[in-house]
Amino acid sequence: MKKIALVTGGAGFLGSHLVDHLMNHEYHVRVIDNFSTGSKKNIEQWKDSPRFELLEKDILDLKEEESFFKDVEFVFHLASADNEVDSLYNPSHYTSVNFLGTIKVLECCRYQHVKKMVYTSTHKIYGAPNIPTLETDRPRPLTPYALSKISAERAIEQWSFNFNIPASILRVADSYGPRCRYPENYFASYFDVWIGQKVHQVPLTVVGSQDHKWDLIYCTDVANACLALAKIEENKQTYNIGTSKPVAISEIVQKISNNFKTLPEMKMLPKETWLDTSNSGFKTLWSPKVSFEHGIKFTMAAIDDWKESKPWSVDDVYSLVEKWNKCFPN
Ligand SMILES: NC(=O)c1ccc[n+]([C@@H]2O[C@H](COP(=O)([O-])OP(=O)(O)OC[C@H]3O[C@@H](n4cnc5c(N)ncnc54)[C@H](O)[C@@H]3O)[C@@H](O)[C@H]2O)c1
Repeated sequence: MKKIALVTGGAGFLGSHLVDHLMNHEYHVRVIDNFSTGSKKNIEQWKDSPRFELLEKDILDLKEEESFFKDVEFVFHLASADNEVDSLYNPSHYTSVNFLGTIKVLECCRYQHVKKMVYTSTHKIYGAPNIPTLETDRPRPLTPYALSKISAERAIEQWSFNFNIPASILRVADSYGPRCRYPENYFASYFDVWIGQKVHQVPLTVVGSQDHKWDLIYCTDVANACLALAKIEENKQTYNIGTSKPVAISEIVQKISNNFKTLPEMKMLPKETWLDTSNSGFKTLWSPKVSFEHGIKFTMAAIDDWKESKPWSVDDVYSLVEKWNKCFPN
C-alpha cells in the first residue's frame, strides 16, 4: 500500500528539505503551499514524479472535507508566517495564518482520520529563556509571532484532547542550510542575510555582540526529526530540537566574511540559545548528524542560491533594529 505524506509549506526552506527526505524514503508526497515565501524552485526536482502532487492554496481556505488529505498517513504542518519584526506591526496576519491556519489543518486531519500530525513550532516561544532550555520551561513570547506559535501548540493539544487527533510538536532551534533565504525582510542578524551580503559584496551586519551564541540546527536534521517523530507511537508530546552546542556569532561571521559592521543590540534578545534535547523517548530515535563545521560548508557551497536575494544594506538592517527596539521597554 502506498504511504502518503502531506507537507504544508512544502515549498519553503525546511518544508522542501522534508519533501526531499520523504521522497527519498519512497513516500507519495503532497504539498500545500501558497508561495507567499516559498518558491517553486525548491521543489522543481520532483515536479515530474508520479509520487509528487502540489496544491497551490492558502491553508486558511482549506475546508474540512479537503480531498487532498484523503488517505494521508502523516501530515507535517510547516506552513507559517515567520517574520518576527513584521509581526510587531501586523499582528493579526500572524494570528490568522499561524493560529487559525493550524486549526484549519487540524480540522482536515480530524475529518480525514489522518494517522499523525507533526507541527514545527519554534524556540522563540521561550522568549528570553533559562539556559539550557527545557520543554517544561515557561513560554514567555516576546512577539506576536511567538505568541501565534505557542497558540498553535495549544490548539494542537486541545484537538488531541477533545478529538483524539494524534499529534506531536517540535520546537525547532534556528535552522540553516541551502535554500534558506528570505528575499524580503526577516530577522535582522540572521546569518542567511549575511550570506546574501557576502554574495552581493556588501558588509555583513552584525547586530549586537559577537559573543552571543546560537543553538543552530542544519536543515536536513530537522527533516529527519520530523519523520522520526511521525513514526513514534506516542502522541501529545512536545520536543526541543537543536544541537545543544551553541555557536558564537564571531565564529559564524568568521566563516563567511571579514568585511562586517556592528550595529546596536536588539532589545531583550537572549544572549544565548541552547535547547536541551535530552528528553528520553525521542532521543533514542533521533540525534543531529550534521555539525556546524560541515553544515556551514554545505551552505557556503550553495552560495549561488543567494544571488537573487535582497542585498541588505547597513541602513536596511539599522531601520529593522529600530523598528524592533521601538516595541520594547528600555
Ligand atoms: N527556519 C528556521 O530557522 C525555523 C526555526 C524554528 C521553527 N521554524 C518553523 O519551521 C516551519 C518552516 O519554516 P521555514 O524556515 O521553512 O519558513 P519558510 O518561510 O521558508 O516556509 C514556510 C512556507 O509556508 C508557506 N506558507 C506561508 N503561509 C502560508 C499559507 N497561509 N498557506 C499556505 N502556505 C503558506 C510559504 O509559502 C513557505 O513555502 C515554520 O513553521 C517555522 O515556524 C523554522
